Parts: sequence; structure tokens; C-alpha cells
Amino acid sequence: FEGMTTVELAKRTGQSISKLQDILLNVGEKVESEFDPLNIDVAELVGMEVGVNVRRIHSAEGEKVLPRPAVVTVMGHVDHGKTSLLDALRQTSVAAREAGGITQHLGAFVVSMPSGAAITFLDTPGHAAFSAMRARGAAVTDIVVLVVAADDGVMPQTLEAMSHAKAANVPIVVAVNKCDKPAADPERVKVQLASEGLPLEEMGGDVQVVEVSAMKKTGLDKLEEALLLQAELMDLKARTDGPAQAYVVEARLDRGRGPLATAIVKAGTLSCGQIVVVGSEWGRIRAIRDMVGQLAAQATPAMPVEIEGLKGLPMAGDDIVVVDSEERARMLSAGRKKKYEKDRLRKIEEERLDIPDVEE
Ligand code: GTP
Ligand code: MG
Repeated sequence: FEGMTTVELAKRTGQSISKLQDILLNVGEKVESEFDPLNIDVAELVGMEVGVNVRRIHSAEGEKVLPRPAVVTVMGHVDHGKTSLLDALRQTSVAAREAGGITQHLGAFVVSMPSGAAITFLDTPGHAAFSAMRARGAAVTDIVVLVVAADDGVMPQTLEAMSHAKAANVPIVVAVNKCDKPAADPERVKVQLASEGLPLEEMGGDVQVVEVSAMKKTGLDKLEEALLLQAELMDLKARTDGPAQAYVVEARLDRGRGPLATAIVKAGTLSCGQIVVVGSEWGRIRAIRDMVGQLAAQATPAMPVEIEGLKGLPMAGDDIVVVDSEERARMLSAGRKKKYEKDRLRKIEEERLDIPDVEE
């Protein structure tokens, strides 16, 4: 979508121009002519009314596109050390050390390397979070760290994580963990992974494998280097100017501060004071905090931040879009609420029909 007119929208949705004009009137939008470009929020509302998804595309033409940090998700089998590894990596973060450790939980953290490069880790391990976000169109993860315990080897959820990453077309870097254990057998793990079809680098493929111990904190620098190398190959860039396109990674309700959302900007810049629609919620951004809790005026791509000022609690995977006015935000949020409710009811109905009748 980029400045589409009513005529074009009619063509794309297969609806008549007069029907769309009726809907426009209903949402209180005055459009002088069917050849005037529509506002994106209005177009989304009209799209929802006629059951068509309107995607927001902001062309980066002529705008600054800069390298950005990679966003990394840690996955692996139960007890293989995902949480321990994230904790250990978090401790390698300069910002965290300077702030005397992170006391608050943000759902994401950044590790800055001596070279100045940075890696953003999502602190929400687990396939459920990854799948849920992907299902909602929130492709925030660039690289998956697949944690495999060196003593336990490849297990069902290791394979599950592999297939999730593959389906999402996200490259894997393997961290063979617990290498400090006497029973550790990293070579066996590699053979297992290769026989599951993972093309390991040392066998001529392109998947890097790093041996680590989250407990002894060994191999962490090697893992970070491997991630940087992978990120370099991917040549990750983002537009920094223009309207922010961001996603919620985690949300919680704080007694004093109200709904708080950890967000990662995909493109553009999110600023304090902006009015945003987040999933079906909305609000005016009252405060942006970085991962150590410092107030920030803005959030740029791949930087995890906590935003305050939403009227309701959003969900992980919700998109964040900036709108022009409170009125428009209310309108869009109400429209989305209606649509989500419709989708929810339809899903329940479908599930009900899927259950075969059972005779008593
Ligand atoms: P779930 O969240 O339950 O799936 O587990 P997890 O993958 O987050 O594993 P977690 O980090 O909780 O670690 C599981 C157990 O393995 C804990 O008892 C850790 O102390 C232990 N552990 C994790 N990493 C290492 C390691 O490098 N070496 C050794 N020896 N133990 C480890
Ligand atoms: Mg855990």
C-alpha cells in the first residue's frame, strides 16, 4: 500500500467504488474524489470491512538504509540450557555491566562487541513464542541459536526447532552446550545433526557449530563471533527514517505504569509522543526505555525498548504502527477489535465443525 486511491482499492478488492465510498462515509472519512490517495489507516479499515488485508509497505526509495544488528532467538530441547545460555550471554553485555546488571526484565537484550557491532537477543526462548509471532506475521528473528546439550544429544524439540527455523527460512547457528560435563560428546551431536539434514560447516555446509558451556561461561565469545559472521553474510539493513514499523515481543501490566510492551523496531524510528496502534490497542507513547531502563527519546531498528502509554495490554507478535491522530487511532483500534472478534468466533466455529460427532 502506498497512497492508493478509492479506484485502485476497488480494483484490488473486487468491490464497487460506490460500496467503498459508503464504507468511507461510515468510518467518517471525507474523500473528495475517488482519485484522491487514501490514508493508510482508512484503507486498512475499509479493507477489514470487505475482508481484504491491506498491507503497509513503506518504500525506502531515496531514504537512508543503514546496517542494523541481528535479532537472535534461542531455541532447543527442554533443559538443554536455553535460559542458562541467555543469562550467560546477557552477562557479556557491556551495557548490562555498566548498569550494574539488569534488574528489570525486558524480554530482549543487546550484546555490544568490542568492534562496535551489536547483537540483539530475544529473551523469549521457546518454539511457542517463535511460532506465535511468525503466525501473526511478525518475522523479527534473523538467526536461530539451536541449543543442544552435549550429553543428551538431538531430541524431539531439537528437531522441532530445526523445522521451525527452516519453515521460517531463518538460518541456524548451533550451540553445543554443557561441554563441561564429563559425559559430553559434541562429536556425536554433530553427527546426529548432520544425519538430520543440517548442513554443518565442517562437513561442507554453511551451518556453524560452536561448543559452549553456559555454566562455565566458555565459548560465548566464539558463539557471538559466529553470530556476527552469520549476520554479516545476511547483510542486514533497515530504513531508519520515516514511520516506524515495529513488533511487540512481550507485554505486561505494571501496577504504577500501566500496560508496558517490549518492542523491536523493524524499520523507521519510533519516537516518544507518537500515537500508535498496537494490535487492537492504541495509545500515545509516554516513555521509551532502553534495556537498562534509561529513558530514550527514540527507538531505531533492532533496538529492544519498552514503551509506556498504551490504553490496553497488547499481545506478543502484535504490530505497532504510527498514526496521525488519536481519533484515527481509536477508529483503527475499534475496527481491529471488531475484526479480531470476528476471526476468533469464526475459528471457534471451524474447530467445532472439525470435531466429529460422538455418540454417547
Ligand atoms: P527449559 O526452559 O525448561 O526448557 O530449560 P532450559 O533449556 O532453559 O535449560 P536451563 O537453562 O534451565 O538449564 C537446565 C539445567 O541444565 C539446569 O540445571 C542448568 O544448571 C543446567 N545447565 C545449563 N547449562 C549448563 C552447562 O553448560 N553445563 C552444565 N553442566 N549444566 C548446565
Ligand atoms: Mg528455560
